[in-house]
Amino acid sequence: MKNNRLVLAARPENRIKVSDFKMETVDIPNIKEGTFLIKVLYLSVAPVMKFYMLDGAGIEKMLQIGDLMGGRGVGKVVESKHQDFEVGDIVQGKCGWQEYVVCDGSPYYMMYKVRQRGLSYSTALGVLGMTGFTSYFGLYSVGELKEGDAVLVSAAAGGVGSNVGNLAKIKGARAIGLASTDDKCRLLTETLGYYGAINYSTENVSERIDHYFPDGIDVYFDNVGAKILDIALSKLRRYARVVCCGRISQYNDVQNSDYNLTNWHKIGANCAKMQGFFIYDYEKEFPKAEKEMAQWINEGKLSFQEDVLKGLENMPVALNRLFERKNIGKQLVKIS
Ligand SMILES: NC(=O)c1ccc[n+]([C@@H]2O[C@H](COP(=O)([O-])OP(=O)(O)OC[C@H]3O[C@@H](n4cnc5c(N)ncnc54)[C@H](OP(=O)(O)O)[C@@H]3O)[C@@H](O)[C@H]2O)c1
Repeated sequence: MKNNRLVLAARPENRIKVSDFKMETVDIPNIKEGTFLIKVLYLSVAPVMKFYMLDGAGIEKMLQIGDLMGGRGVGKVVESKHQDFEVGDIVQGKCGWQEYVVCDGSPYYMMYKVRQRGLSYSTALGVLGMTGFTSYFGLYSVGELKEGDAVLVSAAAGGVGSNVGNLAKIKGARAIGLASTDDKCRLLTETLGYYGAINYSTENVSERIDHYFPDGIDVYFDNVGAKILDIALSKLRRYARVVCCGRISQYNDVQNSDYNLTNWHKIGANCAKMQGFFIYDYEKEFPKAEKEMAQWINEGKLSFQEDVLKGLENMPVALNRLFERKNIGKQLVKIS
């Protein structure tokens, strides 16, 4: 049997190019005692992957040219000589950009069995995976969400943001989402639990935040950084919390990467908090979040949005869609 895999061919200078990757076809080795073979069903696509290609982002080993591109996936065990994994198990973990994974179950792979919830297996990478957990712990633990809070969310129609509106609503808070198109804004209010939406490409963001939240905001869930973050800081209420989840507007644009915030003083003036977080620090609590969110999905309180391309060869295209603002919801690629 053969395995197709994408390896790093060049480090991106600014925008990622399809030619930064090379497709290789290799033999799948025989499964040895203590290992198992996974057929990959879906691969996750996330902005941080650009940094895997550059320096590892401090969370992954820095890839060398020719190395398998990293990333999480969900797959089915098709052969096993490992005592903890059986043929037919659905698993989630570090699969890399390839069609088959030979796994020894060691901590490196962070491989775990996916609970069958009657939903597409893709949800194990989206709302019931790292993306959903980032929304959940970002809002509830870092954002210390309280009933009645006024919440502002950037990249609200992206993977993480698309869960935050409903998660806020479930706890009796109101969220306003920022997105780049009218279609995305409509989705936010019609499907994703947002109380209101702001098209930051066409509307005056500051005025629109004042319109929705004249008394200011209690939680800002930041996925984009730079200018939008600066505007949000100017709107903080007393004891507000700023959740530094990500800053995608600064990942590609070199000029933007050193953006100077002008509203820092609003943190001190409002006794506010601003905190970053790394989702894997909450790993022990993932099962609790997964169970709770699955229940909310069943009860119709939490909807989720996925944007699925097909074919391993489309992984670079899918990664670029995040930076081109094309994805709606969690970006995934169906591999088989
Ligand atoms: N702290 C953690 O542990 C952790 C874990 C996972 C993810 N994250 C971070 O969370 C954020 C969301 O991740 P995700 O995987 O769900 O990605 P995502 O939100 O789906 O990212 C793509 C979206 O970002 C927005 N965007 C892209 N370029 C932009 C720009 N120049 N300015 C403003 N918005 C831009 C676009 O939405 P619009 O079209 O609406 O602008 C786009 O659809 C990212 O910053 C990511 O790095 C952090």
